[in-house]
Amino acid sequence: MKKSLLLSFCFLLLLSCAKKSAEDQFIDNLLSQMTLEEKIGQMNQLDPSWNAEEKEALIREGKVGSIFNVVGAKEVNRLQRMAVEETRLGIPLVAARDVIHGYHHIYPIPLGQGATWNPDLVERAAQLTAQEALSDGIRWAFSPMVDVAHDPRWGRVAEGYGEDPLLTSTMGAAVVKGYQAEGMAACVKHFAGYSASEGGRDYNTTWIPETQLRDIYLPPFKAAIEAGAMSVMCSFNALNGLPSSANPHLNIDILRNEWKSDALLVSDWGSGSDLVPHGLCADKKEAALRCINARMEMDMQGNIYTDYLAELVSEGKVKESQIDECVRSILRLKYRLGLFDNPYVPEENQTDISAAFAELGTKVAEESAVLLKNNGVLPLNIKHSTLNILITGPLAHQKKEQLGTWVFDGDTSLSVTPLMAFNSQHSTFNIIFEPGLTYSRDKSKTGIQKAVKAAKKADVVLFFCGEEAILSGEARCRTDLNLPGAQSEMMDALAATGKPVVMIVMAGRPLTIGKQVEQAAAVLYAFHGGTMAGPALYNLLTGMAVPSGRLPITFPKMVGQIPLYYNRHNTGRPSYDPPMLIDEIPIGCPQFSIGQSSYWLETPTEPLFPFGFGLSYTTFEYGETTIDTIVNDQQSSINRTSYLVQSSIKNTGNYDAYEVAQLYAHQLSGDLVRPIKELKGFQKIFLPAGESRLVSFTVTPEDLGYWHEKHDGLVSQVWFATDKAEFKFKIAPNSDISL
Ligand code: BGC
Repeated sequence: MKKSLLLSFCFLLLLSCAKKSAEDQFIDNLLSQMTLEEKIGQMNQLDPSWNAEEKEALIREGKVGSIFNVVGAKEVNRLQRMAVEETRLGIPLVAARDVIHGYHHIYPIPLGQGATWNPDLVERAAQLTAQEALSDGIRWAFSPMVDVAHDPRWGRVAEGYGEDPLLTSTMGAAVVKGYQAEGMAACVKHFAGYSASEGGRDYNTTWIPETQLRDIYLPPFKAAIEAGAMSVMCSFNALNGLPSSANPHLNIDILRNEWKSDALLVSDWGSGSDLVPHGLCADKKEAALRCINARMEMDMQGNIYTDYLAELVSEGKVKESQIDECVRSILRLKYRLGLFDNPYVPEENQTDISAAFAELGTKVAEESAVLLKNNGVLPLNIKHSTLNILITGPLAHQKKEQLGTWVFDGDTSLSVTPLMAFNSQHSTFNIIFEPGLTYSRDKSKTGIQKAVKAAKKADVVLFFCGEEAILSGEARCRTDLNLPGAQSEMMDALAATGKPVVMIVMAGRPLTIGKQVEQAAAVLYAFHGGTMAGPALYNLLTGMAVPSGRLPITFPKMVGQIPLYYNRHNTGRPSYDPPMLIDEIPIGCPQFSIGQSSYWLETPTEPLFPFGFGLSYTTFEYGETTIDTIVNDQQSSINRTSYLVQSSIKNTGNYDAYEVAQLYAHQLSGDLVRPIKELKGFQKIFLPAGESRLVSFTVTPEDLGYWHEKHDGLVSQVWFATDKAEFKFKIAPNSDISL
């Protein structure tokens, strides 16, 4: 009996060994040879540009697993040789970098890429970016950032894809696929809830109920994981009182147990040691303990693992098996990148993407610009032989500023500015250039006077305004979203000339430009369009390309409306009545005589421009939305109903153009209050002038589900389900619809 038991045990053991993948066998074997010190070394990520000598010594001693901010194939190889040839086990380093929206050649900022509503294009851009970064030795990009953002004051709104979970999920997954198809690991960040910082101030506290976290903030991370993201980065913020690097609920319960992800989890820059200033831990040793217990696997530039993990193991506070789990993830990433076989990158024959980029970079920039207003002045009639065009504004000819934030490796010399693009055309128009202001915060009046003088001689004024790159991105938050410096005054002065002013806004976030929109003859919102911003804008302004960008985020009228987003909940007292604004309130009127609905005294609840909005040079007509139930199991206790939602769309104008058909849904009642509308699908379609197309979406119960919550005493439980409820659907050109 005993013998047969032993035999079957051995058989099972053999079977499980046979099943072990080559990857697992390799990792197990390597791990079994590693000392505790070597394992802890792998968990250390360093930027060697700080204290270079000291850090190189650490690499030689096998105390570094990854380097970042090291550029150039030669330099990466030099450090790699120290790891591979001088350490006992020769485990290669993995070189990481903030490759965010391009490498030397820069695409529009991610918010602009969100405005393309074109994931295929975004994926191709990521692929080309990876080719360029890889040839410089970069194997791991710290992007995409998929933090859904409701607050344009937050500077990092520039780095994500806007306010909608579906749009962000789609774009984030596209970037992951693009990078990884070329062999560069993606890092989806910042896990999680970072963008909901109080007051839109970076690194600030976030309070997000579990259901909202799962409905709004987590889906893009899940989509990126499902697209194969090889790594995830913790966020800086404390989420509901617990910073992410020390949050087992996020890092273990959700990432590992629910999503079954084996992606490497890296801290953000020192986010582990930050637990001390956060006020969570008394000292860095305690911070190391909290982080390892929350399975933060690699410590970026924080030194808490190198300084304290061995001590914590010897004190019996941390098990070596916890460390093994983390090291396994790190070795897995390196194995999957092929670093054990090919640790070095070729130093000659660098990939040259310039030819492919010239076309793709222009196309992405074209599709990222959103036409917000046009009284008919656009497209400019450049065949008109006497057209005098004034090019003015602080961003008309700024090679660096048009690249936007996070362009460590961006090659400014490659930038083609709008002025350069217009000047390079041998056309019949005549260009006058007078910048007026030299940078976006410039307040000089004399420059404005010169621009006004020039405007008087022009037929049309192109005013390139907005924000310099330094005003958005990490830690660049604002409380005032008006055009900085004297740009509003400049617009007043230009408009006063009576000449048609086309305003082209180049910015890292939505700006409160209501007054300027009224003054302008046309408004094109271009975000920071990258290297090819100039040619793209030239094409759009002259009709060589037709605007097809749509807003990925709501534009508020004023800062006081923030947070303002389209998929909000209703209140029990929606603002049905026309709101009575502050100056209309009768003096001394009784308290309740002016109504009690949900509105502000200074401004209506509507945004300046709604999510999904954007004009074209053509017009589209939407037919009625039809809804067919394709599966309907009324007997089932859970909702199993699927719908086929369709609408025909006709290009009724004179230009062949792209349209973005957007499907919105609304659940009329339910276990919990549901958003007044939610994007459930979108398709960017090309329609030649005069043609129609039937657009179809299939909506499944999973698409309509959401996170429910129940409290049982002190214990709260959450689960995903689809209510048996009535749903409304509409296919529309933007979110300005009622359902
Ligand atoms: C940012 C990350 C970035 C990291 C490395 C941090 O300050 O939050 O997004 O990847 O630095 O540069």
